[in-house]
Amino acid sequence: MRKVYYADELIEEVRSRNDIVDVIGTYVNLKKKGNSYSACCPFHHEKTPSFHVSREKQMYHCFGCGVGGNVYTFLMEHENYSFPEAVEFLAERAGIKLPEQSMSPEAKRQADVRTKIKDMNRLAAGYFHYLLKTERGTHAMEYLKNRGLSDETINQFGLGFSDVYSDDLYKYLKSKGYRDEELRDSGLVKYDEKHGASDRFWNRVMYPIIDTNNRVIGFGGRVMGDGKPKYINTQDTPVFDKSRNLYGLNLAKKSKRKGIIFCEGYMDVISMHQAGFDNAVASLGTALTVGQVNLVKRFTDHVYLAYDSDEAGTKAALRALEIMREFEMPTRVISLKPYKDPDELIQAEGTENFERRIDQAQSGIMFEIDILAAQYNQDDPQERTLFQREAAKKLSLILDPLERKNYTDSVARQYDIEPDVLKEAVTRYGVAGAGRIDTSVFREQRPRKSPEEEKEEKHLKAERLLLTWLVNENSLFDKLEGVITAEDFFEPVYHDIAAELFSQYHKDGKVIPAAVINHYQSKEEHEKVSRIMQQNFDIEVAQSDKSKVITDLVKGIRLRSIQHQIELAQGDLAKTGKLMIEKSKINKLIIAL
Ligand code: GTP
Ligand code: MN
Repeated sequence: MRKVYYADELIEEVRSRNDIVDVIGTYVNLKKKGNSYSACCPFHHEKTPSFHVSREKQMYHCFGCGVGGNVYTFLMEHENYSFPEAVEFLAERAGIKLPEQSMSPEAKRQADVRTKIKDMNRLAAGYFHYLLKTERGTHAMEYLKNRGLSDETINQFGLGFSDVYSDDLYKYLKSKGYRDEELRDSGLVKYDEKHGASDRFWNRVMYPIIDTNNRVIGFGGRVMGDGKPKYINTQDTPVFDKSRNLYGLNLAKKSKRKGIIFCEGYMDVISMHQAGFDNAVASLGTALTVGQVNLVKRFTDHVYLAYDSDEAGTKAALRALEIMREFEMPTRVISLKPYKDPDELIQAEGTENFERRIDQAQSGIMFEIDILAAQYNQDDPQERTLFQREAAKKLSLILDPLERKNYTDSVARQYDIEPDVLKEAVTRYGVAGAGRIDTSVFREQRPRKSPEEEKEEKHLKAERLLLTWLVNENSLFDKLEGVITAEDFFEPVYHDIAAELFSQYHKDGKVIPAAVINHYQSKEEHEKVSRIMQQNFDIEVAQSDKSKVITDLVKGIRLRSIQHQIELAQGDLAKTGKLMIEKSKINKLIIAL
């Protein structure tokens, strides 16, 4: 599969103008370590970082799950972009204009669909907002006013009303010239065999969901009163991904207040903003996701959780703390008790009290330990031990030694534990837990292989290893001149890579590993190629052994290639004879480094 829509030079220019560390850094919390950057892998669950990004090579690689590639591969894996989409995204990021006609038909179609959906959403939001202010929206307006919202707040959030007829919006958008399939793509209209088209939202108060680029990407719609379901949200569409957006972030990102406050509900966000806490955001009816933390990370370096005070809210907060910890995002938990949610609290207590609650917010770890404490009977020595053990384990997870000590002291004080004893336990769990690696990936059961399969695999490995050597030791190109060519590589992908590497070397006297990957368009190929480019030699091979290693690899590959040609010669004696001579020469080959 080699569909090239953009010129190779353009693809390479776009790649080289987007530094991989900067791009991946906006999605993953990278820590600098020597020449490379590392993090917990975003593609598999792990507790110790085995995901590495190299600025020098402009490549990434995960030693845990084996993914890797260049900046394009990353976006294809992480954002599920196609290759042309990844090129288009990065071109835009670097301010490079792509020739419109070379967009793939599919990429162009998808871009058109997205633009249309955003246009329809913008029109729908305007229409709902307009309806709210007409006589038809009186009831909805009353509902919002009863909930304490001012005109200013209603305007700021662009709140609206979807009419009681179940095809009101459909008719409106049709009158604007949109076709049925387009309306369906937007998620605003549903179809069924029996009834045809109908609005997804009707007779509801409407909350437009606006992304950080100020585009309407979807809606939440609430019943007025106690009907069910209480909320309906836009389903995922090409422009709406619940897991990568936050309600209110378009406003919160401009806030002068410190930190971002996470709430659970739309109403909480609106109420908080009205009360002056314009740094509040909410998930879109799902639990907090990694994508959402990645998103806020661009705007803040610490967060607060103001989740509901009931059991479900507490559970959600505990889960959110786990995610925040993976990102090393300092997190405090705001207590709302005895009120259910921030909206209720503000209605009941007003602004000043909320300010105080923010100041008194508990650190995530203390919140977790408090919850833990309540699960054990502290009067029973055995249960008390269990609790203390769990608390020590939690404390041992704190990376900063000073912070760990302070929290240990504070837990000892609060739960009446001998400080030295708790400290010792924390240290011990820290040591036992250190260097823990996620070994689950190695435990996978593999079916037994036949001897032929094993031989084949060994050969492919030799081809792959030789390519890896070439990438890492450019001096080899000269040594292998006249000995081996790309044509000797049997596996098609390896053959192509070899050809590319040899030609790069001949042209520029060096190879750019990340550029080789540009030639492939599927995720699978990116994977395969990047493995070769990224592999570092785990075992340092002594200089004297290197020659032998390389000689063996080259011999193996050449012999197989000659054998293959002998088979193709089908008894042509002249050809076969020549090949036999080649073979005996290769057997005596020694490559000296
Ligand atoms: P109010 O009851 O109007 O104060 O709403 P709220 O924003 O406080 O909502 P609540 O705390 O009940 O729920 C939190 C969030 O979960 C909401 O903002 C919605 O995003 C989502 N949610 C609540 N109920 C439903 C539902 O019935 N369906 C769906 N899809 N999402 C819901
Ligand atoms: Mn509420």
